[in-house]
Amino acid sequence: MVVNIGLLGFGTVGTGTAEIILHNVGRHPLLKEIVITKVGVRSLDKPREVKLPSGVLTTDLNAIVNDPEIDVVVELLGGLEPARTLILQAINQGKHVVTANKAVIALYGDEIYTAANQAGVYVMLEASVGGGIPVIKPLKQSLGVNRITSVLGIINGTTNYILTRMAAEGANFADVLKDAQELGYAEADPTADVDGGDAADKIGILAAIAFGDRIKRQDIFCEGIRQITATDISYAEQLGFVIKLLGVAKSTATKALEVRVHPTLVPRDHPLASVNDVYNAILVEGEPLGQVMFFGPGAGKGATASAVVSDIVNVAGVLISSGKEQKLDPLLSCSHQHYADLVPITEIDTRFYVRFLCKDVSGVIGYLGTCFGNHQVSLESVVQIGFKEGLAEIVVVTHDVKEGYFRQALAEIENLDAVSSIPNVLRVL
Ligand code: HSE
Repeated sequence: MVVNIGLLGFGTVGTGTAEIILHNVGRHPLLKEIVITKVGVRSLDKPREVKLPSGVLTTDLNAIVNDPEIDVVVELLGGLEPARTLILQAINQGKHVVTANKAVIALYGDEIYTAANQAGVYVMLEASVGGGIPVIKPLKQSLGVNRITSVLGIINGTTNYILTRMAAEGANFADVLKDAQELGYAEADPTADVDGGDAADKIGILAAIAFGDRIKRQDIFCEGIRQITATDISYAEQLGFVIKLLGVAKSTATKALEVRVHPTLVPRDHPLASVNDVYNAILVEGEPLGQVMFFGPGAGKGATASAVVSDIVNVAGVLISSGKEQKLDPLLSCSHQHYADLVPITEIDTRFYVRFLCKDVSGVIGYLGTCFGNHQVSLESVVQIGFKEGLAEIVVVTHDVKEGYFRQALAEIENLDAVSSIPNVLRVL
C-alpha cells in the first residue's frame, strides 16, 4: 500500500522533508511506501533545491486539503492563518495531519483535536517543540506511565544563542541580537523569540501532553529576555548561576498547574545550565522514573524535517498495518477533554534575584531587610558588589516566597528615599 502525502509549504523544512523521503536508502523501510503527491507553494517559478516530478508543485493549497488521493497533509506554513483553516479542512476531509506549527496548536489545539477525534484522524506534532529532539512521542508513549511532576525546557534556540554569547563576551542584548540577525540566527522581527511567545507556545504543548489537560495559551505567564543585561549575567555568575530562558510546567499540591516562561537564574551544576548556543533541552521529572533529559538541535532544516518525517512514518505505519478504517491508537492521538487551571503568577512560590541601585547611606541594607521582612520575604543572601554612577549596587537573593508577597515588598522598597532604582528582578530556579 502506498501512502500519499501533500505538503503545504516548501521552505527550509519542506525541502528537508522531501530530501529524507526521496533519498530513503539506509533509512526506515516504510519511507519507500510514502509518495509526495502534491506540494503547495506560493510561486511555481522559484528555483528549488529538490527536484520534484512535474505536476507536483501547485499554488492551490485548497486543492491539496481536498484531494481525495491524499492520506496525510503535512502543514509547514507556520503562523496562524491560513494554517488553521487548511488543517481543519484537511481533517474534515478525513486526512491525517502532520504539523511543525507550534503557534497554531498552542492557540487552536482544542478546536483542531476536537475535529480530529470526531473525524477519526491523527494530528501529529513532534516537530513543533524542540525541532529534531524526540520529546512529544516519548512523553506520550515511553514516559506515559509516569506521574510527571515537572517539565523544564530551554526550548527557544534564538534566545539561548543570545544569552550564551552575552555570557561569553560580556556583551549587551541589543548588540548580540543585531549580530544574530546578521548571521541568520535571529529573525528580522525577533519578537516571538525574544519576548518568550515561541517558548510559551512550546511549554503549553508540552504541559498538555505531560499532564493530560489542555492549556489556555493566553493564561501562560510569559516574560522574555530583553531586560537582561551584561551586569545581571555577571552578578549571576558571581553567585554561581547562569541565566537561561526557561519554559516551566509543574504539577502542584492542588490540581492546578504552573505553566510559565521567564528568564531564570539556573545553578551552574544544574543539567540545563550547560545547554548552550542554539541547542534545546527538556528535563522531565516523574514518578517513579526520576529525571530524564532530552537534548539536541531545536531547529534547522534536517533536524526539524527528521521529526516531521518520523510523524509521517508513524501514521503511514498505522495505515499500512491496519488499513484506512482503523480506530485511533490512543498512544498517537490526543484525548484531552478539559482545560487545566493554571496557578496565577502571584501565587507561585519561587526564589528571586533583585538588583538595587541605592544611595550609599548607612542603614540601607537594613531598610531593605525590614521591608522584605514586613512581607514575609526571607533573604538568602545580600551582597553589595560595586558602585555605579555614585550609587551602591546591592544584589539580593530571596528564599522561596509567594510572588505576590515579594511584589508587595518591592512596591514598598521602591518608595524608600535610599533606593534610587530597581534595574532588574529575575526568578531563580
Ligand atoms: N524560532 C525557534 C527558536 C525555532 O529560536 O528556537 C523554531 O521553533
